[in-house]
Formats: sequence, structure tokens, C-alpha cells
Amino acid sequence: MEVKIFNTAEEIAAACAEIFAEQLIKKPDSVLGLATGASPVKTYNELIKKCKNGEISFSQVKTFNLDEYCDLPRDDKNSYYTFMHENLFNYVDIKEENVHILDGNAADADKEAADFDAAIDEAGGIDIQLLGIGTNGHIGFNEPSDSFSDGTFKVKLTDSTIKSNSIYFENDSMPRFALTMGINSIMKAKKIVLIATGEAKADAIKATVDGEVTPICPASVLKNHSDAILLIDKEAAKLL
Ligand code: GLP
Repeated sequence: MEVKIFNTAEEIAAACAEIFAEQLIKKPDSVLGLATGASPVKTYNELIKKCKNGEISFSQVKTFNLDEYCDLPRDDKNSYYTFMHENLFNYVDIKEENVHILDGNAADADKEAADFDAAIDEAGGIDIQLLGIGTNGHIGFNEPSDSFSDGTFKVKLTDSTIKSNSIYFENDSMPRFALTMGINSIMKAKKIVLIATGEAKADAIKATVDGEVTPICPASVLKNHSDAILLIDKEAAKLL
């Protein structure tokens, strides 16, 4: 696992967008694993700029998003479906049929999860997966646990995640469950890029980089991946 430390979130976004651009130039029909949260927003802005100036195109790209809340309408302002369209898809030349976001309202969550994993396999697997990290070390919504998860599944969110993400929701309306790609689905990606900024992520980054590989810190599993890179700022790196 490679770790690169930057001064600012802008520098991280530029470096991360460059990695994705190289991938799209090398393989225009790449399969991208995408993430939500505050961390990737600047990277998406850079990718939009590169698409608008003709450096890259999403016209043959397929995307699979890491996760989605359960029990939240797809067009809710806080759904990851809305997030991805407002922060990337509406501004690039991607075909809507090539966008895959889990349906957190599916009547049969297990079937939705299995169909999602099958669609990733059918697309040829994820070429490059973008990740953020939760303050508790979660990736996607793989929360700290006794064992690493396998494929996509429905998860009960931890109090720590509910606390971190509640800032986006009014009153007590934050969903308590989500669908997420499992650790094994994430680890099957050919390349993984994790971005993290700010002091709030320092403990999680310390456990990921310097700790043992343990499902108590789900991101620590990236040490077992042959092509994983962490792009982090000085604040997130302050305990290393
Ligand atoms: C959410 C998402 C994760 C994301 C994490 C960190 O819980 N499910 O995929 O990595 O938050 O978000 P942020 O980048 O906003 O700190």
C-alpha cells in the first residue's frame, strides 16, 4: 500500500483526477468504482474540467457506486443517487444506462445486492475504485466488525457513522441502514485509490497504515491489495 502526503485537498484532487484520467485514456471503456461523501467532490470537479476540455470522455465508461442509504427516496437530496448526479454525472458525457447505483428501497435487498455484484462481474470487474474513509475506518459502509464482509450486503450503520453523517439530515431523519459493496467486492478492484483529508481522519489513517489488518478497522484490509494508494493531507497523516 503506497501512501502519498499532500499539503492541500486541492493537490489531492488534482493527483487523484490525474490517476483516473490516465486510466480513462488507457482504457476508454473502463469500469469505475465511485464514492460519495465530501472527500471526492473536488476530484469530481477536476474530472468534469478534464471532460469539458476534451482530455477524457465518459462515453464508454461504466460506473458502480459503493453504497446507498436504505429507506430514502432515490431523488432525496441526501441520496447517493442525487449526490452522484449533482457532483459528476450531470456534467460529463456518461450514458445513464452505464450508471449503477444500488437501490436502497429494493423490496428484496439480498437480490438487489446479488444482482449488483453480478453486474460488476458482467462488466469485467472494476478497473479502479475510489474510496473515502469514515472516522471509524469504514470504507463504503463496511463498518468495524468481527470479520471482513464478502459481497454487497445490507448493513446497520454504527452510532459513529450516524453521528458523522447526521449533519446532512434534518432532525433525526438519517437512515439507519444502507446497502454497500462488501470488502471482497472492493478488494476485487484492480486498482484502489483512497483519499482522506483533515484531522478527524487521523486515527483511522493511523490504524489503516500502521495497524494490523483487522476488520475492526475495515480500511486496513487495503494493505493486502497489490495496487492500493492512499492520497492524504498532512492533517490526516499527523499520527503516522
Ligand atoms: C460515508 C460514505 C463513505 C465515505 C465516508 C466518508 O459514510 N458511505 O463511502 O467514505 O462517508 O465521508 P467524507 O468524505 O464525507 O468524510
